[in-house]
Amino acid sequence: MTLSADSHGLAELLRERQPCVVLTGAGVSTESGIPDFRSPQGLWAQFDPFEYGSIAAFRADPAKVWRFYAPRFAVLTEAEPNAAHRALARLEHAGLVRAVITQNIDLLHERAGSRDVVEVHRSIRTSRCPGCGTSYPLARVLELLEEEDAPACPECGAILKPDVVFFGELLPAEAIDRAFELAREAALLLVVGSALEVHPVAGLPLETLETGGEVAIVNRGPTELDARATLKVDGTAGEVLAAVADQLAGGY
Ligand code: APR
Repeated sequence: MTLSADSHGLAELLRERQPCVVLTGAGVSTESGIPDFRSPQGLWAQFDPFEYGSIAAFRADPAKVWRFYAPRFAVLTEAEPNAAHRALARLEHAGLVRAVITQNIDLLHERAGSRDVVEVHRSIRTSRCPGCGTSYPLARVLELLEEEDAPACPECGAILKPDVVFFGELLPAEAIDRAFELAREAALLLVVGSALEVHPVAGLPLETLETGGEVAIVNRGPTELDARATLKVDGTAGEVLAAVADQLAGGY
């Protein structure tokens, strides 16, 4: 199908199936220069997720994990929201998107103007000291990263841990509970830029389906839920969502 046919079909679905809740993954931020995880050039094609992204790896060798994370922090903080983030914010302001549930830790939805964002993997907004519990804002962590590869707590010297959910850690209960509640109440769950391979988040579209809602997917390449989607748009998030927002939220 062409972009216009795809985005027209998605706009129609969004207009008819309300409330709509959006679930985003790393694919919504690649156009901001942030690599995703499982596409061919993704992070997990270069690094072993359990060697660099697990809580066990962090506890065993925090400096090694920071050598992986520090360049990502730089990319994350220099990135700007892209057309997909801006389109979702416009659709929220137009009353067509109730909330954005995101697996991303990059703060780009909030920076694009989305107001109701559920961060199920938390974010780089703060880092915490595992030694004394002190919490540090991103700006302070970036200052520390200028001086050393692994930021040490100014209070007690222990190496800080980013407040993002590592493999092997529990998701923030309040965020994941709200995400499942939103999925249950959604008439349409719109998945954008996620392969839907990581649970429990990948269970959210199933929750919508089980409670009578429908699923639409905008994703380059296959996802685990393609067969269950009312509409699958195999396209670029920025282009497709901007076209939908132009059709439905022109004035926002
Ligand atoms: N437009 C549309 N789709 C895109 C774009 C784009 N511009 N760029 C990438 N994609 C697609 C990829 O093809 C891939 O199918 O987005 C999907 C991203 O999937 P993943 O890399 O698996 O990312 P995600 O689903 O967010 O991973 C979930 O896994 O490693 C953990 O904690 C990490 O939050 C992450 C979780």
